[in-house]
Amino acid sequence: MLIRVPKGTQDILPEDISKWYYIEGIIKEILNKYGYKEIRTPFFEYTDLFVRGIGESTDIVTKEMFTFPDRKGRSLTLRPEGTAPVVRAYLENSMGRISKVIKLFYIGPMFRCEKPQAGRFRQFNQFGIEIIGTKSPATDAEVIITALDVYKKLGLKNLEILINSVGCKKCRFDYIQKLKKYLKDKKELLCSDCKMRYEKNPLRVFDCKKDGCQKIIEKAPLITENLCRECESHFAQVKSYLDDQKIVFHEDPRLVRGFDYYTKTAFEIISGELGAQNAIAGGGRYDDLVEELGGKPTPAVGFAAGIERMIIAIDQQKVKWPEEKGLDIFVAKVDEKNKDSAFKLLQTIRNAGLSADMDYSEGSLKSQMRVANKLGVKYTVIVGEEELSKNMVVLRNMQTKEQKEIKIDNLINELT
Ligand code: HAM
Repeated sequence: MLIRVPKGTQDILPEDISKWYYIEGIIKEILNKYGYKEIRTPFFEYTDLFVRGIGESTDIVTKEMFTFPDRKGRSLTLRPEGTAPVVRAYLENSMGRISKVIKLFYIGPMFRCEKPQAGRFRQFNQFGIEIIGTKSPATDAEVIITALDVYKKLGLKNLEILINSVGCKKCRFDYIQKLKKYLKDKKELLCSDCKMRYEKNPLRVFDCKKDGCQKIIEKAPLITENLCRECESHFAQVKSYLDDQKIVFHEDPRLVRGFDYYTKTAFEIISGELGAQNAIAGGGRYDDLVEELGGKPTPAVGFAAGIERMIIAIDQQKVKWPEEKGLDIFVAKVDEKNKDSAFKLLQTIRNAGLSADMDYSEGSLKSQMRVANKLGVKYTVIVGEEELSKNMVVLRNMQTKEQKEIKIDNLINELT
């Protein structure tokens, strides 16, 4: 029996890889423009990082992590997200000493043991940015603007921005008391997960997708009506920066996002093309996370975006992908006898900086031409006994089908 890929994972095949190069190229171009530097953290970390960083009672930590012991019994977890690892790296490498404000980005796979469905995978790729070291509301706006700039460059339309403030430690504590009071006599109507959430972290009830819980939460007191002065002013400034840039957004006072680290701003970007899994990006401010992970109090803000979902949305909107660049040159041999000369010539062409290949199977000249056509090369160099004896080869223009004999010594000049 054939062994298949694990559930929720997929191969990115050669015919699709150019889409990834294209998207990654645009991401890097835009993020460079905004002054972000790339960071690459390990694919796995000590489990504790995510438990402490994301929060014990979140869905990610309670249900979705791929966790396993190493040979000494230490618990490791495949990273489900990039923010906690980036903050760990920031602290471990004392990046705060290099500069007061650090702007980082990452691109790479994340792992969550969720139920796979369209647009939801167990291994998926994110690009994300994190600005560490400033509480300026302009940076909350900047991360949203940056995400939109990437989407704009890719030609993605039909996006909606949802934004909320989840307050700070101070105002959230008071709000949670209110929320608990509201939920107290409805506790029995909550699902079993939400009963646990009620005890451990009632704000997480907002994450529940179940109809019964959604109905209850609809009438719950709202965090935005319970913000302290500072959080209220911060939120107003973020919105004003977005207004200044003519960015249309909707306030969603029930948007809390499934991470405990958020403070103040939380946002999501939704694509009309994605069906149930419609969040194309999500992020927010996390002013306490650096301290929570052992550093000095350091404010921060960021977001991450799902690359598979970007590809789905681009395909759905029928945005054109750029043409793939084929090989420059194909080298064909008239006879198997000429294969060593063909191989030598192939390397000479490559060494001159052109992309080139040959067919290593023992096919006829005709079948080699078919390979050349498939590869979309502009020229084929045909190596045959008769021409070799004169130190020549045949150069075929694959579009016009014109052929001419050419001195091997002049070949590179002619091709370049
Ligand atoms: P998140 O909302 O969990 O946030 O993920 C960000 C994006 O990753 C989502 O909007 C979605 O596009 C994509 N994504 C998430 N889960 C899956 C999945 N199972 N399959 C496919 N795509 C998925 C975070 O990860 C935070 N670390 C964002 C952040 C950065 N907040 C502050 N800084």
